[in-house]
Amino acid sequence: MMKNKLKDKITLRPRGRKVDFEVLSALEKLLNTDFYRRDHLIEYLHIIQDTHGAITKDYMTALASLMGISLTEVYEVATFYHHFDVVESDDDKPPALTVRVCDSVSCEMNGAKKLAQTLDNYFKGTVRIQKVPCIGRCQSAPAAVVKMNPVDNATFEKVKKAINDKAYTPEIPNYINLESYIADGGYKIYRSICDEKISSDDAVNILESSELKGLGGAGFPAGRKWRILRDQQAPRLLAVNIDEGEPGTFKDRYYLESDPHRFFEGMLIASKVVGIDKIYIYLRDEYPAVKIIMEKELDKIKAKFDGIPEIEMRRGAGAYICGEESAMIESIEGKRGMPRLRPPFVAQVGLFGRPTLEHNMETLFWIRDILDKGASWFADQGVNGRKGFRSFSVSGRVKQPGVHLAPAGITVQELIDDYAGGMKEGHSFYGYFPGAASGGILPASMNNIPLDFGTLEEHGCFIGSAAVVILSDKDRARDAAKTTIDFFKHESCGKCTPCRAGTSKASELMKSEQWDTDLLQDLSQTMSDASICGLGQAASNPVKSVLKYFPNEVKDVSKA
Ligand SMILES: Cc1cc2nc3c(=O)[nH]c(=O)nc-3n(C[C@H](O)[C@H](O)[C@H](O)COP(=O)(O)O)c2cc1C
Ligand code: SF4
Ligand code: FES
Repeated sequence: MMKNKLKDKITLRPRGRKVDFEVLSALEKLLNTDFYRRDHLIEYLHIIQDTHGAITKDYMTALASLMGISLTEVYEVATFYHHFDVVESDDDKPPALTVRVCDSVSCEMNGAKKLAQTLDNYFKGTVRIQKVPCIGRCQSAPAAVVKMNPVDNATFEKVKKAINDKAYTPEIPNYINLESYIADGGYKIYRSICDEKISSDDAVNILESSELKGLGGAGFPAGRKWRILRDQQAPRLLAVNIDEGEPGTFKDRYYLESDPHRFFEGMLIASKVVGIDKIYIYLRDEYPAVKIIMEKELDKIKAKFDGIPEIEMRRGAGAYICGEESAMIESIEGKRGMPRLRPPFVAQVGLFGRPTLEHNMETLFWIRDILDKGASWFADQGVNGRKGFRSFSVSGRVKQPGVHLAPAGITVQELIDDYAGGMKEGHSFYGYFPGAASGGILPASMNNIPLDFGTLEEHGCFIGSAAVVILSDKDRARDAAKTTIDFFKHESCGKCTPCRAGTSKASELMKSEQWDTDLLQDLSQTMSDASICGLGQAASNPVKSVLKYFPNEVKDVSKA
């Protein structure tokens, strides 16, 4: 055998950071597992962060050693997610208590910046005051969170009181639990599917006729997705998307905090009809009350029903991009949430390389009622030629912000007048985001467009997750657009240049009182055309909207 001369000369010595055996042993005890799963890396990081208030380099080294992976792998994941505080050592840990103040559009319009500043001045570093993107409580803007406890319509006094009272945990709202849900006819449809009183073929046909579209934002027909998945080779997986990070959106939280079993029943029906072997539920970290509710109710379901697929819940870690379906799959696999290039599509090659049915939680929420009441019950709800209804998350300058269930195809004016109680006192309607942060901005003069998938695109907008933010004469569209571009800059995963550099550059250009409109237009178009995923493709929509519909707000320097 030939000798490898080079190898002979190498003396093996430990490279990189050395494992601290005391830390290693403490971590072993903390994680308390016989088998380290690579896809559980983010779960392990959560445990360290929750226990120690940060993740030190020693802990990352010990974790890499226990998992048998490189330190780089642990480091790149830990630093990707905003909810992990990666620090050199214990001396660099942030203060024990963090207060998060949302500074996305609706909160920003309601004084979030001033609130964060006042809190910062008062606590002077003893409490960490962090400005964070939308936490899904936009109907109660400005919203803050004291450790895990959300404070709605937050004021300095309210936050200070929560801190003084050490009120750190979320209140659990009243919701329909398993017992009440069953007493009211719940899981009847699921049982009909199991007993084949409703065949799987019929279920898919009904779903297709109902024209239920994916409610996560893309609007892909749900029935067609099920059909595609059924044609794929088993084992098949279901990944439920409850990342709900799109600023302005809070419908998923609303339904989960009031009627979680309607969603669980839809999830079990989908699993049965499509032939799902395992379910993963990805829940954003900003919804701790939902986590408590879901864990409790899922335990009951597992005890109640035989033969359901294994269900695993995964906790996001503060990264908006993980709502994008392929990024979510990467995150469930324990990696950085970076979107995959397609094809192949996740329906063919998804989670762990298996065909994956990926759904927004609300899409599954409506399945039970559609199968129970019939396809036309759902389809007939629409107006102006549209089908079904939408759960509009309405926030901004209206009297009654909240989730309003209204027909697809309703106009924004009808939504304001008939559902949201009209404009707030002293405010007149000026403009609106028809589809959350990425769906663009329209002026009040365009108040008669039916709101639905496919109706807004010709105006450079889209409905997305049906989050409508209402601006008034007290707001400027350019400020709202600046807030959103800063959000996208913060949340860009960095994988592709048009988005990573484009959001930064646009944010810089928009700081100036006078905009270089030619350059911004060019940059926006490049981002839309050349970015890998929907984040970068849509990030400049609000900028383009300002240029097109609110030109008076930005004095143009490019033509000077
Ligand atoms: C940047 C970005 C963020 C997204 N965030 C979410 C999200 O938070 N929740 C969600 O359900 N879908 C989100 N989506 C849409 C998903 O990629 C996917 O289309 C959806 O979850 C599919 O489920 P559905 O067909 O039931 O809507 C996002 C898409 C993009 C491009
Ligand atoms: S568009 Fe943005 S978020 Fe999407 S892959 Fe590129 S850098 Fe990442
Ligand atoms: S909670 Fe602040 S904008 Fe959504």
